[in-house]
Amino acid sequence: MSTITAAITAVGSYVPDFVLTNKELETMVDTNDEWITTRTGIKERRILKDADKGTSYLAIKAAEDLIKKANVDPLTIDMIIMATATPDMMVASTGVHVASSIGATNAFSYDLQAACSSFLYGMSTAAAYIQSGRYKKVLLIGADKMSSIVDYTDRSTCIIFGDGAGAALFEPNHEGLGLQDEYLRSDSVGRDFLKIPAGGSLIPASEETVKNRQHNIMQDGKTVFKFAVTNMADASETILKRNNLTNEQVNWLVPHQANKRIIDATAGRMNLEDSKVLMNIERYGNTTSATLPLVLADFEHVLKKGDNVIFAAFGGGFTWGSIFLKWAYDTNKN
Ligand code: UT7
Repeated sequence: MSTITAAITAVGSYVPDFVLTNKELETMVDTNDEWITTRTGIKERRILKDADKGTSYLAIKAAEDLIKKANVDPLTIDMIIMATATPDMMVASTGVHVASSIGATNAFSYDLQAACSSFLYGMSTAAAYIQSGRYKKVLLIGADKMSSIVDYTDRSTCIIFGDGAGAALFEPNHEGLGLQDEYLRSDSVGRDFLKIPAGGSLIPASEETVKNRQHNIMQDGKTVFKFAVTNMADASETILKRNNLTNEQVNWLVPHQANKRIIDATAGRMNLEDSKVLMNIERYGNTTSATLPLVLADFEHVLKKGDNVIFAAFGGGFTWGSIFLKWAYDTNKN
């Protein structure tokens, strides 16, 4: 019997229609297009304007896109992992609502939260369920409505984040394609540098916490930047060395889209030419759990069966890592 590997067999995505440009941000906080572009690489981001819609709305749309494109019967999905840092509610799993809404009534679902590394960690979890032989179809969704936790008076955070969602289907593969290796790490040294301080069990919501804007995302950007550059690059280099991959053998880097300068530093350490570095940060900004699948969906047409793809991410906690995956299909397979 051949070994089972876990391959991505389909992707889907969704971003809301409303475009928040750098120009418009200039009217909201003391910033300018030139600063944002040169410091982050971001030009615009998408915002879910509807006040009555949460992250589940984005996730359902992305899942439905995948289901339609790949012609998947939702009843055949065994489980759904909902990677998100902005669940609809603190309690009542967002993934459960998503599963029921898309008609995946034979699946079970739960949320996975590791800030900007949620999707990367989710890839490891989804792959483990497939490799063990326990399940045949695992849907991993990364979605975040970052606009629900961003303080639009704080210029150091509001320029970075956007809303969006992406999904990837994991299935067994018998040709050795799919996830090959992973290097995942976490360190609570980062706990105070990137967080939503209140609303959890440590500091429950109160009049005071609302007044002090403690339900918004806060970050020490400079410190996060330094850790992100070092750790994303270290993790990616480790994955290359461990798998005896040269820069020429790597076809694509799929990096978390937080800041173009962090991506450039990671690609630089891997000695990768620019054309192999997949980026859409200029259009979506940092969509947290959705960055990796949004990149996959946007660049699905260039990915070829057998391509060596390196994923890398860094997020709050701190959480970070890198995954080596062999792409399993050509887009025009159907
Ligand atoms: O996904 C993981 C989560 N987040 C990240 O990975 C983000 C990591 N950090 C970053 O991307 C960057 O640190 C930022 C984009 C947040 C900030 O860029 P920076 O180059 O680290 O800027 P800085 O914080 O060192 O600030 C430089 C200057 C400061 O002014 P002074 O003190 O030099 O006069 C800031 O007040 O830029 C000022 N500044 C701004 N100016 C115009 C900060 N934000 C802005 C802004 N527009 N939006």
